[in-house]
Amino acid sequence: MMTKKPYYITTPIYYPSANLHIGNTYTTVAADALARFKRLTGYDVFFLTGTDEHGEKIQRIAEGKGVTPKQYVDEIVAGIKDLWKLMNISYDKFIRTTDDYHEKAVQKIFTQLYKQGDIYKSSYEGHYCIPCESFWTETQLVNGNCPDCGRPVEKKTEEAYFFKMSKYADRLIEHIETHPEFIQPESRKNEMLNNFLRPGLQDLCVSRTSFNWGIPVEFDPGHVVYVWIDALSNYITALGYKNDVDTELYQKYWPADVHLIGKDILRFHTIYWPIMLMALDVPLPKQVFGHGWLLVDGGKMSKSKGNVVDPVVLAQHFGVDAIRYYLLREIPFGSDGLFNNEIFIKKVNSDLANDLGNLLSRTVAMIEKYFEGLIPAPTAKEEIDDELIGLALETPKKVEAHIDNLRIPEALAEIWTLIRRANKYIDETTPWILAKDESKKERLGTVLYNLAETLRFSSVLISSFLPETSEKINEQLSINLTAWDTLSAFDGTEASAKVKKGDAIFPRIDVEAKLKELEALKEVKEEPKVACQPIKEEITIEDFEKIDLRVVKVISCEPVKGAKKLLKLKVDLAGEERQVVSGIAKWYKPEDLVGKYVVLVANLKPVKLRGELSQGMILAASTDDDSKLFTVSIPGDLPTGSQVR
Ligand code: MSP
Repeated sequence: MMTKKPYYITTPIYYPSANLHIGNTYTTVAADALARFKRLTGYDVFFLTGTDEHGEKIQRIAEGKGVTPKQYVDEIVAGIKDLWKLMNISYDKFIRTTDDYHEKAVQKIFTQLYKQGDIYKSSYEGHYCIPCESFWTETQLVNGNCPDCGRPVEKKTEEAYFFKMSKYADRLIEHIETHPEFIQPESRKNEMLNNFLRPGLQDLCVSRTSFNWGIPVEFDPGHVVYVWIDALSNYITALGYKNDVDTELYQKYWPADVHLIGKDILRFHTIYWPIMLMALDVPLPKQVFGHGWLLVDGGKMSKSKGNVVDPVVLAQHFGVDAIRYYLLREIPFGSDGLFNNEIFIKKVNSDLANDLGNLLSRTVAMIEKYFEGLIPAPTAKEEIDDELIGLALETPKKVEAHIDNLRIPEALAEIWTLIRRANKYIDETTPWILAKDESKKERLGTVLYNLAETLRFSSVLISSFLPETSEKINEQLSINLTAWDTLSAFDGTEASAKVKKGDAIFPRIDVEAKLKELEALKEVKEEPKVACQPIKEEITIEDFEKIDLRVVKVISCEPVKGAKKLLKLKVDLAGEERQVVSGIAKWYKPEDLVGKYVVLVANLKPVKLRGELSQGMILAASTDDDSKLFTVSIPGDLPTGSQVR
């Protein structure tokens, strides 16, 4: 028996900081479709996914919830595995960076890199602003304070390990230039070369001491390994690299055929990762493909905007294959694409309910009506059949060529060309008219056979993309031959097999009604409970009264040149005009603030921020991760200067 060619495909490993959304689902569904297709076309596939569980963020969330980080991630990871089960993700292995074998292998990798001199110990010194969690150099400070918030900073020196990235930069540039397929799509390759590699690489800080939820450095356990070194290693540790258990997997599947990732993490995969591998003397992956972002109306999905699309809810309403279809067909693979409920529902109605669903239900119904449910033999061919049969026979090759180049939407478009051609064939051959004439019975049988066989082709062709639908079609038409090579001849449908009419595979959706239903769901969805910062030390009322809070009205507002985060506001305080510099540019446009009544700390010592005088501080409330912020404002027009007590 011929040995099958190995094919190794990976998804990013996801942060289990919260439940996954449709954006993460997109990467995994695409990887699943590719993995299934490669299996179908004769490859020995290894499909890896998993979770990236360490890091300060997760440690903090867990602390806020009063559980250990491991307890926290265990729960989220269970949910992620359920989601993949729901979405029919056919992974071969699920790696968790908290798996013992992975942790040990990462320690060995780090130690080796240290021993051979690619990682060295040093320290960095800086001025640390605790609330902003930012390090600043001396020259960045403003009057000795944090340039962003104006608060005092602490001098801090931290020991850390650094990776000599620059040592490998030239080799990497050469590799990228001589392997045009390494970074795809093409535009991303240029972005990496021009924006990061050619301007020169700095050594990368690869350990942390400020938190401990990570893999301890073997020979210096006060340090934990930087989360990206830990995470990227998963692609080889999952195969048994630096671990004695499964090394034959490593021998067989490494180097990976493709790391499928989102464009936001391309730098890590095309710079840090290959440099790590070069230092370890391990071959580089054959390709890193950075797909685009799935946007929702209003842009990027984020919890703070409340526009996160939950794949579980969508699956309850539309079924898993409808979601898979939309993601794979509608989002140009490699560019950003939109997820919009209305476009989604319309696409399900037109392509799945009308084109595919109707083709199946009409074919099965006619075989039942005219042939007692037994598929007739094709004994009366006519020239008009040739185009349909020819197209069916050509489609597998076209689909395979697209998939070989990761052109998933184009592959699906080819399949739908065949499905639509079959619907047209019904209109051309008018079986209901043939049925009226007993002498045309054989011709009618041939037409129905051709339709059943086209559906068999379609079912095999869509099986990697829409696995559940493919099974439903097979069931209704009693299809037994589902192997790829059965698509080399148009005769795999068994004459006299019995068809079984089932439910509509994609019932037509009432667009308006469904949209309303989805809208209503949004309104009742509870806000998740979030952990808050611990309450500060107790103070007396006298302490509090030292702070003079006043209502002021914003008269004008403009950005501060050269400081992305800052806005300069002119406010009215009982006829006195004051200037206040505030770090709220991320959340407010200047015009949103003009005319607003906000609260000012009026007796705060004036400071200069980025050369601009700031006479007080505007109060604002924000989430711990700063994803959402609102100024504290007064809803009515109280006279300015009124006290806030
Ligand atoms: N843990 C890292 C990856 C380490 S891989 C060694 C990480 N995790 S993540 O959970 O934040 O993101 C995982 C993937 O989801 C990334 O590829 C990211 O691009 C993708 N997506 C997150 N939101 C997305 C969209 N809205 N659209 C498409 N993909 C998006 O990064």
